[in-house]
Amino acid sequence: MNSLAPQPDADTTAWRILHDEKAGVWVDHFDGHWLVQTRDARFPGYLKEMAKGVASSIYWRPRDKAASTAPEKIWGETLSERFPVLENGAKFWIDFDSGYSSGIFLDQRLNRRRVSGNSRKGQRVLNTFAYTGGFSVMAALSGATTTTSDLSKTYLNWTWDNFRINGLDPDAHYGAKGDTFDWLGALAKKGRTFHGIVLDPPTFSRSGKKTFRTGSNYADLAALAVSVLEPGGWILCCANTHRLRLDQFEKDVFEGIRRRGRSVESCESSPMPPEFHGDDYLKSLWVVVG
Ligand SMILES: C[S@@+](CC[C@H](N)C(=O)[O-])C[C@H]1O[C@@H](n2cnc3c(N)ncnc32)[C@H](O)[C@@H]1O
Repeated sequence: MNSLAPQPDADTTAWRILHDEKAGVWVDHFDGHWLVQTRDARFPGYLKEMAKGVASSIYWRPRDKAASTAPEKIWGETLSERFPVLENGAKFWIDFDSGYSSGIFLDQRLNRRRVSGNSRKGQRVLNTFAYTGGFSVMAALSGATTTTSDLSKTYLNWTWDNFRINGLDPDAHYGAKGDTFDWLGALAKKGRTFHGIVLDPPTFSRSGKKTFRTGSNYADLAALAVSVLEPGGWILCCANTHRLRLDQFEKDVFEGIRRRGRSVESCESSPMPPEFHGDDYLKSLWVVVG
């Protein structure tokens, strides 16, 4: 059995506290509230012992349950409303009852920090497939003007709540509700450009008649993105799948960039947070495009 991962730093109260691939047990710690996922349909009782003095409540959802199923309370305090957590000093609203995910994907912590380091006042950053806008918050806290795009109005509203809780004014930023592919096309037509772009699509997406698959359509997505990227700007390209190898992913991204006559100035792969050990499903490429 793996041991509990320590808090990454004083400015972060949400992290993957237990990652046990072999046992099929994954525990996310959200400011003292544990969200447990398991491969099996049985709750691992030993977690109650491990939680003593570390957590104030345990919620559990087997992985194969429909994403919309709310987790079941197993032990401790009952959460009747959303609550904030800290990550890299930024605040994010968490809601265990929200279905799909609870508010932030903890495996993106290092990329969110890097977006913050790569953004500054006077720059424009576009966050596509944004979910609750974690990358937008980090870019905005560094002074950038952000555009946040997602199919879901609920998630865009959640993004603005995340802005407010960080003292950021949503009215000073832009929201683009709808399909990322449509928006990228529309922004290119209008001649809009960005210094940085985040591409973190789901493995599969259907919008209207269009479908997107990470494994077969990433070059198209990268090509669309560079058409709104300033020369010398960066793109963070993420692929969340075991099946796609890093070298193939890089090939796809480069193909999309070159299709538009643009060049790759540099490309760096960034790792997942260390507590997600031994399970490199999330591939991230930081590409500077000439
Ligand atoms: C994997 S999550 C993205 C996570 C996010 N980048 C983060 O780090 O918090 C996928 C998001 O993409 C959105 N989405 C799916 N298909 C889309 C599309 N075609 N256009 C825009 N958003 C889409 C979903 O609503 C969801 O919020």
